[in-house]
Amino acid sequence: MKRTLPQAGTTEIAPSILSADFANLADEIAQVEKAGVNMLHLDIMDGHFVPNLTIGPAVIAKIRKHSKLFFDSHLMISEPEKYAQAFIAAGTNNITFHIEVVPQPADFIKKLHDWGVTAGLCLNPETPVKKIEKYAPLAEMILVMTVHPGFGGQSFIAEAAKKIKPIRQIVGPDIRIEVDGGIDADTAGMVVGMGADTLVAGNGIFGKPDRLAAIEAIRKACK
Ligand code: DX5
Ligand code: ZN
Repeated sequence: MKRTLPQAGTTEIAPSILSADFANLADEIAQVEKAGVNMLHLDIMDGHFVPNLTIGPAVIAKIRKHSKLFFDSHLMISEPEKYAQAFIAAGTNNITFHIEVVPQPADFIKKLHDWGVTAGLCLNPETPVKKIEKYAPLAEMILVMTVHPGFGGQSFIAEAAKKIKPIRQIVGPDIRIEVDGGIDADTAGMVVGMGADTLVAGNGIFGKPDRLAAIEAIRKACK
């Protein structure tokens, strides 16, 4: 089944399973799917690019069988070019990689397209917009980190969100701008106002007892 990134123009919430109950993943995913989200954010960490470890392709292949959602894999790994195909084979629909570790981003974006997935270009809080300027129009999505990657449940860095506006000016309306880190009902409205249209939320959804209510609260905050 071909799953495509929702067309720009809508605000999408992409729950990050990082804060979900990993012993109960199928049910956790079913809950957010029932709430009507279209995307699921999968945080991949290698203990090298970031000081934490999470899941690999084997887990993604297993959860793929339980979900119809668009799988948005965020590769917080030092060698995304080496592992991208394994994540795609496991059922990933979008690969987001960090500009900090890919010396030839245009080549890698082209490869991702050839392999049948969309490409996300990510920048850490301290990475300037200038670094992605040339490559941003080649990607389908730009991911602005509003925490230092590695852990869920951290506080939103407002300074990093200031990059959303200039990025929107560079990419125009047709490329998604995703924001990741500290997004909940308190911060969602602000980043959407700045031009973001794709909101990753881990703790803001899976850290709450009622996932549906948490998603509804974020939706309401975006209006
Ligand atoms: C952080 C990850 C995020 C994380 C967000 O390194 O990339 O996707 O899950 O978690 P919250 O929403 O809890 O900040
Ligand atoms: Zn992420």
